[in-house]
Amino acid sequence: MAEAKSRVFSGVQPTGNLHLGNYLGAITRFVELQDTHDCLYCVVDLHAVTVWQDPDELTRNTREVTAAFLASGIDAETHIVFNQSQVPAHAELAWLLNCVARIGWLNRMTQFKEKAGKNRENASVGLFAYPVLMAADILAYRSTHVPVGEDQKQHLELSRDIAQKFNTDFARAIARAGHEAEFFPPPEPLIMGPATRVMSLRDGTRKMSKSDPSDLSRINLSDDADTIAKKIRRAKTDPNALPSEVEGLAARPEASNLVGIFAALSGRSAGDILKQFGGGPFSRLKDALADVAVDVLTPIGAETARLMDDPDHIDRILSRGAARASAIATPILEATRDVMGFVRAPHRR
Ligand code: TYM
Repeated sequence: MAEAKSRVFSGVQPTGNLHLGNYLGAITRFVELQDTHDCLYCVVDLHAVTVWQDPDELTRNTREVTAAFLASGIDAETHIVFNQSQVPAHAELAWLLNCVARIGWLNRMTQFKEKAGKNRENASVGLFAYPVLMAADILAYRSTHVPVGEDQKQHLELSRDIAQKFNTDFARAIARAGHEAEFFPPPEPLIMGPATRVMSLRDGTRKMSKSDPSDLSRINLSDDADTIAKKIRRAKTDPNALPSEVEGLAARPEASNLVGIFAALSGRSAGDILKQFGGGPFSRLKDALADVAVDVLTPIGAETARLMDDPDHIDRILSRGAARASAIATPILEATRDVMGFVRAPHRR
């Protein structure tokens, strides 16, 4: 089924409601890639706890992200769906890679600066080291392709730097053990599709995000039809009519965001949408967009809710996925330990 040696890995944090940005920027891509690649999709609970999580909420959110994956069309039989904390290789490889990554590299991460805010001294060590754990997630499977939204681009570049530094630092041992020189292949980001950066419905210059205090800023996958329609109707716009051509969207962030969301949800091009709605008021576009959004999203919300009624079923999927993921990651981790010179028991050599 898959191209030789290509493997897709991606992760989503269980830190609250999944929203339209997660869906269009990541999950729809995850679904598409299943046709052409072997895929691992991970609920990254170890990343979630880099900021404090209520334990009951973490459990619930982990199941809910899993349910949303399944409801969106991810196939946990053909591919692998699991939660990160059940595969110890992630945390162990992260430690090894912490010793490869440089503090200067992490100091440049814009997401840490945003998340830590002014009170940097009080951020967890885990939040600072977060991108190294992300590199470990990817490299533990020698993943070659990583579908993500635009906001993860810098983290992916760091993963590539870590892979390359490891390959260089241990080049002699890698060659001696008969591994390929690219012991860790530098993973390629797949930032694709019409909605790699979905913006807030309240401010077209800011990313749609779980952490925005205003729920009106985002459409959650769990929102019902009325809520979705209400949020779209209340979305911020500018005072001008819609342009008839794509070029007219430049410097109009709210118009551009609504048209982009419409295009991504409907599979139509922005040009085609503007041909239909250009010259008219935003309300016409919003009515049509609300219909499309409700049609696409409410079945996913309903199926997620149905799956959440049987948490044992979800937990079985996760533990089976974790066993399959471990079977891939463990030999890679053991080879990594060997290359670095860690002694292992004679019977395990
Ligand atoms: P997270 O949980 O914040 O987001 C999950 C995915 O959704 C994408 N995304 C968006 N895409 C478009 N528009 C938006 N407004 C928007 N908001 C979020 C994100 O880019 C992401 O693809 N660090 C990652 C999780 C992670 C990971 C990994 C990803 C951990 N390990 C290994 C890839 C590979 C994160 O916090 O994503």
